[in-house]
Amino acid sequence: MTYDKLSVAAARKAESVGKKVLLQGWVRTRRDSKAGFSFIELNDGSSQGNVQVIAAKELPNYETDIKTITAGSSVAVQGLVKESPGQRQATEIEAEGIELIGTADPAAYPLQKKGHSLEFLRTLAHLRVRTNTFGAVARIRNRVSFSIHQFFQENGFFYVHTPIITASDCEGAGQMFRVSTLDPNDPPKDSEGKIDFSKDFFAKASYLTVSGQLNVETYCAGLSRVYTFGPTFRAENSNTSRHAAEFWMIEPEIAFCLLEENMEWAEKFLRRLIADVLRECAEDIEFFNKHVDTTLIETLNHVLNSPFVRLSYTEAVKILHKSGKIFDYKVDWGTDLQSEHERFLTEEHFKSPVILYDYPRTIKPFYMRVNEDAKTVRAMDVLVPKVGEIIGGSEREYHLDILEERMKEQKLETDAYRWYADLRRYGTVPHSGFGLGLERALMFITGMANIRDVLPFPRTPGNCDF
Ligand code: 4AD
Ligand code: MG
Repeated sequence: MTYDKLSVAAARKAESVGKKVLLQGWVRTRRDSKAGFSFIELNDGSSQGNVQVIAAKELPNYETDIKTITAGSSVAVQGLVKESPGQRQATEIEAEGIELIGTADPAAYPLQKKGHSLEFLRTLAHLRVRTNTFGAVARIRNRVSFSIHQFFQENGFFYVHTPIITASDCEGAGQMFRVSTLDPNDPPKDSEGKIDFSKDFFAKASYLTVSGQLNVETYCAGLSRVYTFGPTFRAENSNTSRHAAEFWMIEPEIAFCLLEENMEWAEKFLRRLIADVLRECAEDIEFFNKHVDTTLIETLNHVLNSPFVRLSYTEAVKILHKSGKIFDYKVDWGTDLQSEHERFLTEEHFKSPVILYDYPRTIKPFYMRVNEDAKTVRAMDVLVPKVGEIIGGSEREYHLDILEERMKEQKLETDAYRWYADLRRYGTVPHSGFGLGLERALMFITGMANIRDVLPFPRTPGNCDF
């Protein structure tokens, strides 16, 4: 007799009825009936739902093994897929053989009971993917990553691998992790007594990248449409529910593209990710809609079907002034908007995603295109309810003289950016791009409120376990 290896997701489908299958996975629960049966809920991560396995007492190892199976144990089940008489599932498995592979001592297994808090589960990052919530997050993270590549590949973008180690600070924020092989206890010193990084591995100070943008711009000026998608690192000590020290960013860069077109791409891109998840991860989304945020599906559908509000920074400041709301941080033209302001605009005032553009030049990085008013730059931030900023982007300054002026204004070492300035020296073109924080997108799509719960192994201040 041959049993075909099948995933639990496949075994749950009506079309599998009549098949002899081999299922392998982890037991969620076992209960025994008086009539001499055991019911095992089996999950292998292929879907949110389990498949029910029915084990009769006639099985040879029923007393010795099957009746000792507890939550968390791993098993292999050979059996027949049958139509289920129950309403909730299409199929069930009539077991013809069950092998208990790995036991999980119920006195010690931390997921023996259901209903642990998300905070507690963070201390179990190595086991939490076996829960409904984290299995669903993982599947949606996978789907979104896949759709990101599909979207860009279908639209003629080339995937570029930008470096993780860098000597330049893209955002000018100065909150970077240093990469060094110098002995921290006895570093070489220069004549002024400062650490001499010319003796370091790269013969200069180097860091983990905060963004792949500057590098991907070079490939844009040759391949026209490109994107990078990789890990980025920020050492800002902001212990919030929306900041991680290591997160993934998707950064498309588009040649011959102005800010308006950039906004179109950002909107189209976000919609595509949402539509794919609603279609391909329906069961997981229903789970989040039921257990995490009961307005989730409604919100996602709203975003799919209505255009994003577009508003200049100057208009936004006026609205915030007129709102009569008391914010923790006061807004004045020229100050950076805080998350409370962004959330007021998107959640309360417009109740829709909002794209803010034309920010003051003083609060945005040197590479953004300066407007004719000389006071603002062609920046854009996409804000969404509950998360706030999800995308940051801009049209890039493509005039060499203005770019150099901006570098001086922001006190950057122009030498370090010579290669970047070369793009304006040889065949410069107007171009634009943006960065989507993958985890912020996942928070929005799943309704999960903390970035620590959409990263498999979150890195945040004071936390680098697992
Ligand atoms: O707005 P940011 O800093 O933009 C850039 O890095 C540009 N170089 C992008 C570009 O134009 N190519 O970051 C982009 C996005 C933010 O909107 C946010 O979603 C996310 O990255 N992000 C973070 N996500 C998690 N933790 C953090 N500490 C984040 N910082 C930024
Ligand atoms: Mg930003």
